[in-house]
Amino acid sequence: MRVVLGSDHGGFTLKEAIKAHLLEQGHTCEDVGCFDQSSCDYPLIAEQAGQALLAGKGELGILCCGTGIGISMAANKVKGIRAACCSDYFSAKYTRLHNNANFLCLGGRVLGIGLALELVDVFLNTPFEGGRHARRVNQIGEIEARQ
Ligand code: RB5
Repeated sequence: MRVVLGSDHGGFTLKEAIKAHLLEQGHTCEDVGCFDQSSCDYPLIAEQAGQALLAGKGELGILCCGTGIGISMAANKVKGIRAACCSDYFSAKYTRLHNNANFLCLGGRVLGIGLALELVDVFLNTPFEGGRHARRVNQIGEIEARQ
């Protein structure tokens, strides 16, 4: 799978660990940065990552900041992006099954690498269930269209 990756400085170390893990599994990564520990602004990274996904540079994406929260808030401002900030396995799985989330957002200052990689794996390997959930996901898009 082609996976879009992005982080600010607070998520940089985690993003690099995720990238190594994905490449080892044979995935392709579209990394929009950041590329070192220097302080940077997560909204700009979130926007770039969202646009990369919408441009077809990846099928799903992973974003990391200190908490995972700021970068998810910013990503969700890009029309068509459904970003879910998760810290547990059940949420990372069900946000694919029920919400058709296209970005998983993780906190580099919240999660250990082991748990984070488990969340990444279940997120990338779980398909959208569709059915009644498709109606609800479409309603999210309709809210965007009304703004
Ligand atoms: C940066 O210090 C930090 O605020 C950011 O990584 C993130 O946690 C914001 O939600």
